[in-house]
Amino acid sequence: MCGIMGYLGERDTVEVLLEGLRRLEYRGYDSAGVAVLVDGKVEVVKAKGKISVLEEVLEGKKPEGSVGIAHTRWATHGPPSKKNAHPHADCKGHIAIVHNGIIENYLELREKLQAEGHKFRSETDTETLAHLFEKYYDGDLEKAVRRGLKEVKGSYAVVAISDRDPGVLIAARQYSPLIVGLGEKPGENFVASDPSAILSFTRKAYLIDNGEMVVLTRDRVEVKTLAGKAVKKSVFHIEWDAEMAEKGGHKHFMIKEIFEQPHALRETIGERIAGGEAALKLDRLNLTDAYLRRVKKVAIIACGTASYAGMAVQYALEKLCGVPVMVDVASELQHRECVFDKETLGIAISQSGETADTLQAMRMARRQGAKLLAITNVIGSSVARESNGVLYIHAGPEIGVASTKAYTSQIMAMLLFCVHLGLVRGTIKPTAARRLLRGMKRLPDQAEEFLEGEAAHVEELARKYKDVMRYLYLGRGAHYCTAMEGALKIKEIAYLDAEGYAAGEMKHGPLALVTEEVGVLSAVVEGPHYEKSIGNLQEIRARGGKVIAVANEGDEEIQKYADDVIRIPKTEEVLSPVLAGIPMQLYAYYVADLWDREIDQPRNLAKSVTVE
Ligand code: M6R
Repeated sequence: MCGIMGYLGERDTVEVLLEGLRRLEYRGYDSAGVAVLVDGKVEVVKAKGKISVLEEVLEGKKPEGSVGIAHTRWATHGPPSKKNAHPHADCKGHIAIVHNGIIENYLELREKLQAEGHKFRSETDTETLAHLFEKYYDGDLEKAVRRGLKEVKGSYAVVAISDRDPGVLIAARQYSPLIVGLGEKPGENFVASDPSAILSFTRKAYLIDNGEMVVLTRDRVEVKTLAGKAVKKSVFHIEWDAEMAEKGGHKHFMIKEIFEQPHALRETIGERIAGGEAALKLDRLNLTDAYLRRVKKVAIIACGTASYAGMAVQYALEKLCGVPVMVDVASELQHRECVFDKETLGIAISQSGETADTLQAMRMARRQGAKLLAITNVIGSSVARESNGVLYIHAGPEIGVASTKAYTSQIMAMLLFCVHLGLVRGTIKPTAARRLLRGMKRLPDQAEEFLEGEAAHVEELARKYKDVMRYLYLGRGAHYCTAMEGALKIKEIAYLDAEGYAAGEMKHGPLALVTEEVGVLSAVVEGPHYEKSIGNLQEIRARGGKVIAVANEGDEEIQKYADDVIRIPKTEEVLSPVLAGIPMQLYAYYVADLWDREIDQPRNLAKSVTVE
């Protein structure tokens, strides 16, 4: 969470910083600020609220200089306010810093620094860093940062400037993302918390690893360890282009990203299905067939939507590969006494590749001997780098806080892996594999067909049920995940009460919630759970609940049990979560839009949760 941007160069520094912040706003949007070196002095401007508020404050009084840092905040320590907004400065205002992460021992450090005479102005953990660097400053900012960070426990991506070291920007990383943008034209360089911030300026980057520091000037970028040893980096080319991160005529990023799903799914498949063969080309898998045959357990490691994508594949992996699969949210998993071993394959799923809970759980699994496979959208992200193998989903930038195209692409990528695993382990016969792969290749077209044919109908239903304030989302088997994901979508963007439940659990409690005021969305696709799911709908309607069923085209029976039906194309049951997720996203979007919610940046949330 929190977005960081730094710049050295000849352009309009504040404009560059603001452009970076706008692209990073999805990471946090409760306050923002910039610090620029102007005529030998650090000038700081901050504002509570979104970047647009900061822009208003800066209008007509933009600090002008060639070195600057900026930040957009998602509050952890201290409420959103101008005082708690970054950049933070030391006592005399010589040093300014921006930070993403959590300084775990900040109270202890703060008390010590206060006892030594340092004056604090905010309630943040971050301000401690500014005073620590001040304490150790003796004419060299790099040395002060290195010395100060020795005392820090926790996670950080930090960028510092000082008016006594003009023309230098110092950055360091421990567990929070950091990237250096190498100027395409001479005399400029960038630093940021993720690639989207620098896309409009450069595609050449260094990915900074944990325990590394960077010294940037306009003409030089030196990467070192925190201990000061030089590190040789290779240049990384960012494939995404700036346009992919624009709204392209849509009202919100979320709806644009929902409609991008056919394309995203095609990209996820890419060249991975080898012609008509029952074989897959999973180039960065890095897990040998011998190892895959030995795997005794799969553990899905993920949070939020990504964990529901994991649930979809739990169903497929168990059914098609006969391997036991454990799914738990990473925020819990990392604190349990889980048993991982050399025969456990951890599958870490993360759109951003930077989710702190996911990374912590991965590290725990790895310490216990498990191998890790990453399913992520961001090339070179921490999740990818800390895994043995990776399947990039290639969904393109996902800016809306509510995950949409990443969800369906994550399921698709894992289904590809599932077929590979089944073939290697001999649990899927080549003919069955060919049938599944044919089914997967059709999914992008089917998603397109659904969006073209049914989106307007889903919008109509959102209008019809606009006043429903409480929802239950139900599903069984392959669609337990659809229920969980549908409920999460409407909660996070429409702020409506919604519970996702395994339909079979209704009688064990939640049925008591059903009244005429409750809306029920249920995924009821053809397959082994169809009859039982119909039974659940009957229980609900008998108690007055309104039912919207997501069902297959051509299913006439369903009409008897639902108030309304949204039709999705037919596919194999194990593949159907890819299609059933889309109406859930659309319904949540249209309801949220009718309520006039801030869909792309819902209250209290951030896109990439880089703190535990
Ligand atoms: O970047 P990640 O996929 O690791 O993010 C995990 C969750 O934070 C994320 O899916 C979150 O639940 C979304 N806001 C859901 O729409």
